[in-house]
Amino acid sequence: MATEDPVKLMKQQVGKAAADRVQSGSIVGLGTGSTTAFAIQFLGERLRSGALKEIKGVPTSFQASVLAKQHGIPLTTLDEIDHIDIAIDGADEVDPQHNLIKGGGAAHTREKVVDSLAKQFIVVVDSSKLVDRLGSTFAVPVEVLPMAIAPVTQAIEKLGGKPELRMGVKKDGPVITDQGNMVLDVQFDAIDNPAELEKTLNNIPGVLENGLFVGLAHLVLVGEIHNDHPSVREMSR
Ligand code: A5P
Repeated sequence: MATEDPVKLMKQQVGKAAADRVQSGSIVGLGTGSTTAFAIQFLGERLRSGALKEIKGVPTSFQASVLAKQHGIPLTTLDEIDHIDIAIDGADEVDPQHNLIKGGGAAHTREKVVDSLAKQFIVVVDSSKLVDRLGSTFAVPVEVLPMAIAPVTQAIEKLGGKPELRMGVKKDGPVITDQGNMVLDVQFDAIDNPAELEKTLNNIPGVLENGLFVGLAHLVLVGEIHNDHPSVREMSR
């Protein structure tokens, strides 16, 4: 085990722990990112082994949908269902009140739709994601209509934020979301009231959604390493 990447081990363990909580017959929100990818993989394994039956996944992104298909998870859409039993999703930061910053993969708009509909929303993170205060290590992603990028940038600066247009990797120009929009990563000196900031940002015309997830998570599972061994802790408020 000593040779394995500890962060990967924590993500694997926590992904498995979340997948183990899914029951047969459930409609499951499938989050986006490297941690949820393990949960999707383990859901596929449980389906193949027969331990889990008749689940349907609601993907939060193109990536989640591709992974679900790869692992044999049948998919559905919000048009075809009237509830989501459980959603599993990662986060970039988690504060002691279980509030989150999400959107490191630019998928936060669809993630918030799916995660907020779930009867149980389980967050899966490794211990590096825990912070005392949101915004300490990660900027707040804001999805913006391309034609409104200039006025939204100005409006965010007036709020005291420092917005930066997210640029593509191995692609010239900005990141384009699954919906065809752009992302501003906004650094704030301090986020004193995440609930208020979430609403204020979403109230700027041209903003689709921001990555502050306040009061949505029901359970946070944290992957940790103790004495070289990965384990999973349920974070309590
Ligand atoms: C996707 O846009 C994000 O909200 C991810 O859920 C978040 O960035 C966590 O990703 P990792 O599990 O890859 O750290």
